[in-house]
Amino acid sequence: MTVLQRLFYCKPAKLPRMPALQRASKGRMFSIQADLPRLPVPPLQQTLDKYLKTISPITTPEQYQKTAEIVGRFAENEGPELHELLEKHAEGKDSWLADWWLNTAYLDYRAPNVINSNPGMVMPTQRFNSDEEWLAYAARLIRAGIDYKQQIDNENLEVEVLAGQPLCMIQYYKIFSTCRIPDLKRDRLVCYPPNKPNAPRHIVIIHNNQFFSLDVYGTDGRPLNEKQIHKLLSKLVSKSQTVGPPVGVLTTGNRNSWATSHKRLAKLGNNASHFDKIEKSIFVVCLDKPYSGTQDPGADEFTLSARQMLYGDGSHACSTNRWFDKTLQFIVGRNGNIGINYEHSPAEGPPVASLLDHMCNYLASEKENEAARGTTDIEQLEFKIDKTIEAAMETAKTEIDLFGADVQLTGHIFDGFGKNFAKSIKQSPDALIQVAMQLAYYRDQGHPCATYESASTRMFQLGRTDTIRSCTPASLAFCQTMHDSSDRAVQAKAFVDAVHAHREYTAAAVAGQGIDRHLLGLKLIAIENGMNVPDLHMDPTYSKAFHFNLSTSQVPCKNPIVLCFGPVVPDGYGFCYNPRSNEIIFVVSAFKNCDKTDSQNLTNRLCESLMDIKALFPTSAKL
Ligand code: COA
Repeated sequence: MTVLQRLFYCKPAKLPRMPALQRASKGRMFSIQADLPRLPVPPLQQTLDKYLKTISPITTPEQYQKTAEIVGRFAENEGPELHELLEKHAEGKDSWLADWWLNTAYLDYRAPNVINSNPGMVMPTQRFNSDEEWLAYAARLIRAGIDYKQQIDNENLEVEVLAGQPLCMIQYYKIFSTCRIPDLKRDRLVCYPPNKPNAPRHIVIIHNNQFFSLDVYGTDGRPLNEKQIHKLLSKLVSKSQTVGPPVGVLTTGNRNSWATSHKRLAKLGNNASHFDKIEKSIFVVCLDKPYSGTQDPGADEFTLSARQMLYGDGSHACSTNRWFDKTLQFIVGRNGNIGINYEHSPAEGPPVASLLDHMCNYLASEKENEAARGTTDIEQLEFKIDKTIEAAMETAKTEIDLFGADVQLTGHIFDGFGKNFAKSIKQSPDALIQVAMQLAYYRDQGHPCATYESASTRMFQLGRTDTIRSCTPASLAFCQTMHDSSDRAVQAKAFVDAVHAHREYTAAAVAGQGIDRHLLGLKLIAIENGMNVPDLHMDPTYSKAFHFNLSTSQVPCKNPIVLCFGPVVPDGYGFCYNPRSNEIIFVVSAFKNCDKTDSQNLTNRLCESLMDIKALFPTSAKL
């Protein structure tokens, strides 16, 4: 057992209840599933102590004192009762958090999915000399996705491991044939897993805003090969040379507006059956037209691709050629921009990243497949619309154009060093990047801020994430030392202290000992029991602690792929990175309407900070 395992491995009190899916599973992918522990409810005092520690760098002494008193009263009064209620709520459940999290983080959220919640992922850009090359690539990409799905269907994926611990693999089962459906107040999530009867066999293709269903299996049960898919794609592209009504743009809207249009649309023509086809489809593929004109004319190729993946770059570009409620939406641009936009509610980035890694490897391979027998033709899904829907589509177009134009993205490949350098100085690469980002932000803004980094809690049944609060007293001390001192030894020591503090927080968060989900649970259990929301949660410091000016995430991929997302607050930054052996690929986002933030400035500060950190270790091993 590693130190981490000894410290944080939590055996369940009794064997966890298994959902039907896990009991039925025999393949190696779920071989350990039943033995995974359940997410613990951390000790109350531990959470409160950590909370005070984490707010100390972002509060004035007066604010801190006031909050410490509120926390003290909470520990003496309602805290223990709420904690006990939470432990009771956890009894007998596979996860005390999973349903709450799905609803509060995703399905109850009324702002648009697009930019706010759905990430984009940028794959390597291609050069297509003709439509045929473009469609041949799209066909191979589709076949690569089906190849991965087959591995999941056969439960053949290796169990993932983090810090020596096996991870819950359920999210892999939830990425294909899944869709979010808008509804008033709370959306729904539907999933058609492969172990259910009549599992879906089709994908949906969108071209020029027109929708087609394509059955990717023959009657012999074999997937269509690339040539067969290519032929059908050519046919549907020639059938959709004119631009259809932009129904897909409705999925960019506020969830209540979209839910209202959705209900109306479902009553017209065959639309209800078209919705059903899209929801059940294995995935959606957007064949994007070539387009000139972008919402960010000065942007480089990488950044433009990120814009196309994140939201379609506006209604004049590709934002209408989408279905942003679909979990997996592959994008194959005629301009060579390739990637995905994914709806976040069923899964985190890593399963999608593994899928894309597999697809990149498949695309680069010589793999050829036999043709399937008994293929069927494409089916066009023509939406019937009326004047009200036309008006709603115009509104959605205006809104996504305004929202998209406000987003500033900077994609960058930092080639000064990668994971190998961090390892050579015996430090965690992730912690190094996070500490460098703390320094970059400090240099950009002159002060620290509440920072979110996703930590996977998939060591537990149905685990999702908790927060690594990357802004620590040690990270602030490092930033101040870099500013105030020119003594390299002092700076290097402050850096190592900050990295260790980050590592300690990470180890606790992945072991279910983070504070954010526990604090959320204490609030939700109060509400469920008709009690007042505690003062602790109403304190302005609490709002400040959850106002993440820096929202960050590592999504590692073996291939040069990077995820991107928007800032989570109006005056914040989004930052996602893929640390590779000798480079770090990342995208920074900000809102142009905020005059305090600038994604290019933060990118520059980050590159500078990374190089300054490297300079602290001049005698490090050769890279
Ligand atoms: N000395 C030498 N090597 C070290 C080291 C040290 N002190 N510390 C770490 N390393 C090595 C690791 O062994 C690992 O090696 P590998 O490349 O051979 O696998 C590598 O450096 C990376 O480790 P590290 O940078 O510390 O990161 P991690 O893999 O532990 O990941 C998190 C940290 C927080 C990203 C991870 O725990 C996590 O939670 N990931 C999921 C995040 C997520 O869900 N994001 C998506 C949200 S949508």
